[in-house]
Formats: sequence, structure tokens, C-alpha cells
Amino acid sequence: MLLLLAKKKGTASTIFSLSAPFFDVIPYHCMQIDLNGKILRLMQDDITRLAVDAICNAANAMLAGGGGVDGAIHNAGGPAIMAELNAIRTRDGGCSTGSAVATTAGLLPARFVFHAVGPVYNDGQHGEPRLLASCYRTCLQLAEERMVKRISFPSISTGVYGYPLADAAPIALQAVRDHLTQERCVVEEVTFVLFDERTRLAYERALRGEVAGGWK
Ligand code: APR
Repeated sequence: MLLLLAKKKGTASTIFSLSAPFFDVIPYHCMQIDLNGKILRLMQDDITRLAVDAICNAANAMLAGGGGVDGAIHNAGGPAIMAELNAIRTRDGGCSTGSAVATTAGLLPARFVFHAVGPVYNDGQHGEPRLLASCYRTCLQLAEERMVKRISFPSISTGVYGYPLADAAPIALQAVRDHLTQERCVVEEVTFVLFDERTRLAYERALRGEVAGGWK
């Protein structure tokens, strides 16, 4: 399997896999940036397929499950995850927007799932950017508390909740970048697992823009 990796420290790079058609675990499109030895990666795939320490979910405030990535995570993870969410809901009444709760990962290739509740997009003037950033920050905090090194995120709020991709992607990337560049940080690798080409391209554009605009 031959990987071509065009990589320069501190800059975005693209990995091409020449053998991708024969090894479907190797993504066609993967872009990553090295931030002082910590990796921020973008790839296009189904988040339930990637083995990490913690997977983030785009959940709802009732932690009731749904479609999209939430449905995929519950389908692949099995009923143990919802059983834990039921207990959290009984205890706390759910999860507020901008926050997240942790469960184990059932049958998924991970130790934890962090269920984050993103904002429903209205017009961007109702606290949506702050709440969206808070989802990523809360998940990263849950990761630190659990000694999680590798974590994956979907594009929170940009599906059913209607957040415009071009606005959401830089917020997500900035929140992760701020975390990875802290002096003390357990998390070593953050992968955005983006389900479709449109979403991946929006994140790639945002990452290139951030790098060009001052991520040194
Ligand atoms: N892996 C990765 N990403 C996925 C997957 C998957 N298997 N399935 C869907 N996605 C992507 C969508 O394409 C979108 O880019 O996740 C992103 C977020 O979309 P939604 O899942 O609709 O999440 P969100 O917009 O935050 O809406 C949350 O939807 O499913 C319900 O219970 C959930 O009510 C909550 C709401």
C-alpha cells in the first residue's frame, strides 16, 4: 500500500492513497495539519467506522436519538448507549444546547461517545456561534477528563439543525485548534469525519483559509 504524503510542519497537507480502491479502510481524501505535534485531520467517511478513543455525536436536548449521525451511532453502537442516556435523562432531564454528556460506546470501536447538543440555526444572531463552539469545547473537556487521546467529530448542527457549512466549519476548526495548542493537553489527534463531499470540501476550504490567515 503506497501512501503519498505531502506534508510540511504547520501547514495543511493532503494524503493520497494510491491503493484506495482496494483498501476501503484507507480514505481517498484526507487532509491534516500538524499543530506542534498534535494532529487535526479531515476525512470523508462514516464516523461509526473509525476506531478512536471517543466519538462525538450530534444529539438533541432530550438525548432521545434521531436520524443523521445520531441514528448511525445508535444503530452501530447498539442499545447499551440509549440505556445510559435514559439514565442521564431521568437524572438531569436531558442536556442543554452547547453542552454534551458522555456514555460508553457499546459496539462501536471506541471507549466513549460524547453526545453534544448543537444549536438549531436561526439567523446566526441568537448565540449560535458561541453555542456551536461550546459543543466542541465541552467534548474536548470530557476527553481530557477521561484521558482520551484520539477523538472524532462529525460536523455538528450542519444537518437537520441547518447551520450553514461555511459558517460552522471555521468555528469547529478554531475550537479544536485552540484546544490542541494549549500547553497541557491529553488529546493528541482530532479527526473530523465528514459524511459527504460537500461537507468535506467546506471544511477543507475553511482549514486552508485558517492556515493562510494566520495559523503559524
Ligand atoms: N458519519 C458522519 N457524519 C454523518 C453521518 C455519519 N454516519 N451521518 C450523517 N452525518 C452528517 C450529516 O451529513 C451532517 O453533515 O452529520 C452532520 C450533522 O447532521 P445531523 O446528524 O443532522 O446533526 P445536526 O444538524 O446536529 O442535527 C441534530 O438531528 O438526528 C437528529 O437527534 C438529532 O435532533 C438531533 C438533530
